[in-house]
Amino acid sequence: MNRDAPMTAWPRCDRTVAWSALQGHAEAHGRALDLRQLFTDDPQRAQRLSLQAPEVWADLSRAHWDVATRRHLLDLARECGLEARRDALLRGDIVNVTEGRAALHTALRAPKGTGPFSEAVHAELDRMLAFAESIRARAGGDQPGDIHDIVHIGIGGSDLGPQMVVAALGAWVHPQLRLHFVSNVDGQDIAALLPRLKAQHTLFVVASKTFTTQETLANARTARQWFTEQGGTDIARHFVGTTTQVQTAAAFGVTTTFGFWDWVGGRFSMWSAIGLPIALAVGEEAFRQMLAGAHAMDRHFADAPLGANLPMLLGLLDVWQRNFMGYRSRCVAPYSQNLHRLPAYLQQLVMESNGKGVDVDGQPLPYATSDVLWGEPGTNGQHAFFQMLHQGSDVVPVEFILVRQPSYRGAEAMSPELRASLAQQHQALLANALAQAQALMCGKTFAQALAEAAPTASPEVPCEVIARHRTFPGNRPSLTLLLDRLTPSALGALVALHEHRTFVSGAVWGINSFDQWGVELGKALCQDLLPRLDSGDVAGLDAATAQLIARLHGTGTP
Ligand code: F6P
Repeated sequence: MNRDAPMTAWPRCDRTVAWSALQGHAEAHGRALDLRQLFTDDPQRAQRLSLQAPEVWADLSRAHWDVATRRHLLDLARECGLEARRDALLRGDIVNVTEGRAALHTALRAPKGTGPFSEAVHAELDRMLAFAESIRARAGGDQPGDIHDIVHIGIGGSDLGPQMVVAALGAWVHPQLRLHFVSNVDGQDIAALLPRLKAQHTLFVVASKTFTTQETLANARTARQWFTEQGGTDIARHFVGTTTQVQTAAAFGVTTTFGFWDWVGGRFSMWSAIGLPIALAVGEEAFRQMLAGAHAMDRHFADAPLGANLPMLLGLLDVWQRNFMGYRSRCVAPYSQNLHRLPAYLQQLVMESNGKGVDVDGQPLPYATSDVLWGEPGTNGQHAFFQMLHQGSDVVPVEFILVRQPSYRGAEAMSPELRASLAQQHQALLANALAQAQALMCGKTFAQALAEAAPTASPEVPCEVIARHRTFPGNRPSLTLLLDRLTPSALGALVALHEHRTFVSGAVWGINSFDQWGVELGKALCQDLLPRLDSGDVAGLDAATAQLIARLHGTGTP
């Protein structure tokens, strides 16, 4: 490739005027911003930096930025051609240049007749949803072939989305169906599950875009072995494949398949046939609502002006926090047990998309890209790592996700007393989230801590020492995303918001957010090492790997 001919028409972000302005702004103001002062100076700050997008209300006022920062970031977006890049994405241009593909996950949720490939998308969607309904209609029945358990076998993008959504929409899940997710090549995962199943009442869904993934094929083989040992014969009925490679699946022995296309990236595929377990769990109507919620967010991303466009603002804020404030990680804290798999889902979305070191042209990047995303649901995280968030040496922005009204499975059958008790728990959950965000921002001064510490002081441990331990620096940033209810539609919008936000920061950085070459080296080395574990052959290996192979093979020193 000609190094002098960049593949994009826009300047690299660090060569823009806005980038320099942001650097100056960060040095002059950004790193000295104090959230408490910002709220004192601008009584309208909370309203000014909050935004309603479809299904998601966002409070961005507790981030370390101000109106000037936002203005510079919007300039950066314009200089980097973000609107044109977004349009190219949504139009189906080849944005995934290293694999020569479009990234058209938005087409999967466009209403019939509106998006690219609409006919093919809706034909396959209708077929998949009809299949899901046919299984649901006889779920829990006594006849052979009536399904009680669904085992979804897949990994990465072929696992995390469906698994996260089925947990999130627990209140919508068919009461006669149990959903299980097996991903790890570690046989402990599937071995623990199989004894709990009955072959004639189990449906295995083998999900793999490529149908070559080691983990998925290994688990599928084990499942098939178990199924036949249990007397199961009708593989076509009890094994379903979701893949772009229907021929490969058929060659493997899975002939009942639902397809999708190479322009659907693995981590963007829960809207396609990969979402089959979601459809099986929650049914056609809820699945279509989830698509509609995502589509509403797509329209917002496509149409809202830059300054009122939530995915744009969040993606730009991510750039500000990473490149100018120097934050290396962000913590996602859904205050919703149903969203307990959301941090894992977002880890793949964000870090596989933007954990890159070269730009689209292959040029090494001199600035930081993806941060580390991690998290746990509240309130559990409070009793684990929130200590570090409040008083640790690193500043880690926290993202609170709140749901105003909970949805419980089987709520109709609950007594009023039980409902009242659960309602109180929900208020406690919300109060905890509010308190954590407040504590992060407001902190506690030494003087306040000293006043509190006085009664507990002893001659051995003076007040001042206790007070130092009880001081909270405050001024720690957070964001809050608020959903009215965690409905299929709201969940669809929330996920689409994160997809677009990730694209935005990746586009600013000039990277291809849709490939994942970084996972390939380990896969290839594994192919070399696997037979060596049997043979004990360590020829040509580095000394550390050779030593471990020798120990594992039993030929090395114990
Ligand atoms: O881990 C790499 C990866 O290629 C992911 O991007 C993908 O989601 C996952 O493996 C599973 O791939 P497949 O769906 O082809 O089995």
